[in-house]
Amino acid sequence: MGLGECLLGAAEARNVARVMRHGALFRYYGRGHQPSLGYVRRLEQQMARRHHLKYALGVSSGTAALEVALGALGVGPGDEVILPVWSWVSCFTAIVRLGARPVLAEVDDTLSLDPAEIDRLTTPATRGILVVHYQGVAADLNPILAHARRRKLWVLEDCAESLGASYHGRQVGTFGDIATYSFQQRKVITSGEGGMVLTSGARLYERAVRMSDLGLYRDEHRAIQPAGVTSFAGSNYRLGELAGAVGCAQFARVPPMIRHLRRLRAIMQRNVGVLPGLVWRRIPDPAGDLGFDSYFFLPTHAQALALKARAQARGVGLAPHTGTYCQYAREYCQSGATQAAQFSPFAGIRPWPGPGYREQDFPRTTDLVGRMVSVPLGALFTAADAAHVGRVIREELAPLLA
Ligand SMILES: Cc1ncc(COP(=O)(O)O)c(C=O)c1O
Repeated sequence: MGLGECLLGAAEARNVARVMRHGALFRYYGRGHQPSLGYVRRLEQQMARRHHLKYALGVSSGTAALEVALGALGVGPGDEVILPVWSWVSCFTAIVRLGARPVLAEVDDTLSLDPAEIDRLTTPATRGILVVHYQGVAADLNPILAHARRRKLWVLEDCAESLGASYHGRQVGTFGDIATYSFQQRKVITSGEGGMVLTSGARLYERAVRMSDLGLYRDEHRAIQPAGVTSFAGSNYRLGELAGAVGCAQFARVPPMIRHLRRLRAIMQRNVGVLPGLVWRRIPDPAGDLGFDSYFFLPTHAQALALKARAQARGVGLAPHTGTYCQYAREYCQSGATQAAQFSPFAGIRPWPGPGYREQDFPRTTDLVGRMVSVPLGALFTAADAAHVGRVIREELAPLLA
């Protein structure tokens, strides 16, 4: 189960019932002469405050947030965007949907973008970097930002899996030009479907609003930031009040959830102990880790598979909370197809899949994720559960490493 999903309860039900009684499900129109209860706006304000950023915009999903953010940045045909090959479906597809070319980069032992890849992959067409803070851990932002600034590239932080994670004392999402979140079922907080875009840039905010709301910029937004951008054709990625109501209740659960998860992780790791051959994922700032999915690497793929099978036989699942795969293994990447052939950013690459989109182009990532084991801890786990998981790993792994 997802983290926030485990905790759905009376507070969420109360908020949803209030919206239903009031009857205004749409964010902007209210009902009759009554405005909506403003849950979406409240969630935006809470997220903006948490991040010390001026602007937050609720949207219908994390995927929509990525498309809106990329659109706000002006990404389009002919542009290239660098992203980690080990990332969620829509990190790739959102770029393609805007007609730009996703350029896949190796990850390092943080399981996020290897900063050195920026220099290797930048071309005159590169516009920006999509950084993914993978499963509760901030990417190593200092070197990433240094490379990006030197090459005058923007940085989009995809924080979908890491609400509450920080890097040297600052929340993820506050380092780049623009950031996105998801409130999908498997995330830190859920609203069923939902997402958010955050930025401190007035122009980016207005463009994001117009991308998400049919090119419009309503009075509510003009009161936040006066208009300054010509309207353009946007889509409808608005977030509704029912989702906003659930999201607001979930948001209040974040601080105790993180405290609990960090405690569980420490207990689990103590029980695993030190085993020669087991190497934990490198966490660039250990103080900012959420603690819900801990990863380690073993010397071989066979040992990783064997451990998962042995732990599963004792009722301990070691599959991560997320369905992330290497992008080259996905069907849409293998086909390279787009909804209309003339829209394809891959048109010049023949035969397909070409270099940069095949398994053999990512030896380090393929090796790392093959030897990787995930230890997912849930929001409803107890200290005894975490200790048990740690002990099972130790007992099943020690003979494999002997
Ligand atoms: C890193 C990352 N980005 C984007 C998304 C997309 O979010 P959504 O499912 O809300 O569209 C997800 C998860 O689903 C994700 O894990």
